[in-house]
Amino acid sequence: MIPPADTIDYHTQSPEVSKRFAELKQRPVVLSVDDLTKIFPSRNGDVTALKSVDFEVYRREFMCVIGPSGCGKSTLIRILAGLETETAGAVLLDGNPVAGPGPDRGMVFQSYTLFPWLTVKQNVMFGPKMAGHKEAGVEADARQWIELVGLSQFENSYPHQLSGGMKQRVAIARALANRPRILLMDEPFGALDAQTRAQMQSYLLQIWKNLDITILFITHDLDEAIYLSDRILVLKANPGEVDEIIEVPVPRPRSLDQFIEPEFIATKHRINQLIHPESERGQDTLPFPRMTKQGDDVE
Ligand SMILES: Nc1ncnc2c1ncn2[C@@H]1O[C@H](COP(=O)(O)OP(=O)(O)OP(=O)(O)O)[C@@H](O)[C@H]1O
Ligand SMILES: [Mg+2]
Repeated sequence: MIPPADTIDYHTQSPEVSKRFAELKQRPVVLSVDDLTKIFPSRNGDVTALKSVDFEVYRREFMCVIGPSGCGKSTLIRILAGLETETAGAVLLDGNPVAGPGPDRGMVFQSYTLFPWLTVKQNVMFGPKMAGHKEAGVEADARQWIELVGLSQFENSYPHQLSGGMKQRVAIARALANRPRILLMDEPFGALDAQTRAQMQSYLLQIWKNLDITILFITHDLDEAIYLSDRILVLKANPGEVDEIIEVPVPRPRSLDQFIEPEFIATKHRINQLIHPESERGQDTLPFPRMTKQGDDVE
């Protein structure tokens, strides 16, 4: 019997999880976001997409970012990728300020971004070739990355011949082929059906486990965030500020069975409280008049 979610303290960590976090915080900081602010000027007044956002991601950490629509998640990841400039504050990767895009950050977006005129292998080879690496080495490397995402049989296929999940696996291989320090993922599985999505989450955890890679992953899905991450950065909207950084108390290795464990449910309940506060509840009721007889009820 699972106790009610609001009676469980999501701060409670098993000794094994506490040890894991103590160890995590001993590792070098890969990404440091210092007092980051982004203001978009607009005719109707400035929009503060991010305000004084401050956090660090440790080496080989898996961090998810979650928050209501418009809270600045994509803006944050675009600044980290160097595709957008900050209004104030700083972003440091391995202690060096980020200025513009670079191969040290790999990006995977929700929309499919493979080059449609290139095969799977050519897509994966594209970045290293552009960086001037020798063709033979690049090809051998690309094969390894494609094997890592389980698509060796499809290396000569074109993107239109692949399913959505396969395209995203190629996108991950392509991002990894540049040997980034950090993988920045903006709702990469958002367009996939539930079953493929669950499979992709499992693949991603396996990839993460086997590589020296740090991951910052944006999602709307609470289960996905808890299942994947070490810590969850919860943002609030208007302006986009850090609400809380949650240390996920669910032990690793993760499995789908943990979705009904008390610590999983308590964490989900806590994030839900942050993202959909009590004050906002009940606002999703339609002003719909009753069109059936009294007593003819379905609930
Ligand atoms: N290029 C831009 N010019 C003006 N305003 C922008 C621009 N990009 C984003 N914004 C504004 O900044 C805020 C944050 O947008 P952003 O896309 O980062 O949110 P998000 O958290 O990714 O939302 P979603 O969950 O819907 O993807 C929004 O109010 C948005 O309208
Ligand atoms: Mg977004």
